[in-house]
Amino acid sequence: MPSAIFRRAAAAALCASALTLTMGGAAGADPGGQGPHGVGAEQRSANAPEHAGTPGRPDHAGTPGRPDHAAGGEACRFGSAEGASEPARDSLAAVAPEGMVIGTIAAGGGHHADADYPDPFPDDAEYRDVLAADFSSVTPENYLKWESLRPAEGEYDFEQADAVVAWAQQNAIDVRGHALFWHSQNPDWLEDGDYSAEELHAILEDHVRTVVSRYAGCIDQWDVANEIFTGDGQLRTEENIWLRELGPEVLDDVFRWAHEEDPGATLFYNDYNAEGINAKTDAYYELAAAQLERGVPVGGFGAQSHLSMQYGFDDSLQANMERFDALGLKTAVTEIDVRGTIGEDGQMSPEDRAGAAERYAQVLDACLAVEGCTSFTVWGTLDEHSWVPGTFPGEGDALIMEGDYERKSSYCTLQRTLVEHTEGAESWEQDEAFSACRGILDQAGL
Ligand code: XIL
Repeated sequence: MPSAIFRRAAAAALCASALTLTMGGAAGADPGGQGPHGVGAEQRSANAPEHAGTPGRPDHAGTPGRPDHAAGGEACRFGSAEGASEPARDSLAAVAPEGMVIGTIAAGGGHHADADYPDPFPDDAEYRDVLAADFSSVTPENYLKWESLRPAEGEYDFEQADAVVAWAQQNAIDVRGHALFWHSQNPDWLEDGDYSAEELHAILEDHVRTVVSRYAGCIDQWDVANEIFTGDGQLRTEENIWLRELGPEVLDDVFRWAHEEDPGATLFYNDYNAEGINAKTDAYYELAAAQLERGVPVGGFGAQSHLSMQYGFDDSLQANMERFDALGLKTAVTEIDVRGTIGEDGQMSPEDRAGAAERYAQVLDACLAVEGCTSFTVWGTLDEHSWVPGTFPGEGDALIMEGDYERKSSYCTLQRTLVEHTEGAESWEQDEAFSACRGILDQAGL
């Protein structure tokens, strides 16, 4: 398969490229920026005209017939999508509605450093091929976090993040950037650095401008601020170094800096336990509304959706997304996985497995029902790579593929939900392309 060979060769060339260590200093803002591309440009609608480009692929420069992502800013400097192959008919990307992307992560860094396998994304060509064949968006799992990008004060190491972005460009896949402002996975030099407020403000500004400008035109959605509220809706002023030392006002600065560097990217808040209407999401709602009121370029709200079969599901997800939608924000499911208690075989009970598959579909259904929910990302593909077992002892089985990339019932309920939504029940029941998943769901009693 020539395109797979091309992709492998291109990725290998990138991985071989020298370590990108640069000194700090922001590149200039895009002078031609015309405001966020998000609102309107990518909105999914049943009546949206058919694009003549690559079916199932998001908008990209270089893909014929596709509106250019870079219309609201500069073009991505990491290559073009020319020659990208179409996703397979039975992939998730191909059956998503026009304008909606189905994402996964580029696994690597973080907990993988302690695993007995090398980082999946840079080291496993088969893994990359599965991602390219099935998905239309990718989030670097750890490579855009401070601990990955910032080996020392004033230094940047972009090697791994560049490779993901360039690979995504070549395959006409969207990128979600994650994350610029967070309390977790920060380097020790920062957390223990004893900097003054003025110094921290300058360090943060340099980081946001340097990173966002580097990937301007390449990253469609940025998780600008991650997990800034506790469950009871209080700002994390103790754990989050920026909020603690600089106060909440710095949030306005961070969104403004990011917007200046890439006016085409949609800028998100992102959090867990942020699916339903609760104290935490009330706090986000109020904060975002107040910021919009004073012209801060907040553009989206992401519900991570790390769910567990141990807990019930708050079905106010759709209503929650609708209220952010009504504020004019994009919404997204940014990190879904559905875990549960596992036995020695690493699997949940058949009942929990079926319940998890249904829950995936339920969350997707909610997103499909909300106009501005145009991005749905699963936090991984293979169970073997998932962060869940290392973080939630005794739980696992949370993702949508297992073994040698075999599709699980949770993959198939997503496929069915998308096909029924875009093409109707008849297509799902009769199209040969979906017979494998029909069989898997039959067997699972789904
Ligand atoms: C996780 C990664 O998957 C792990 O590899 C890492 O060790 C820890 O972080 N919310 C987030 C993600 O916003 O960045 C987290 O990712 C999962 C929870």
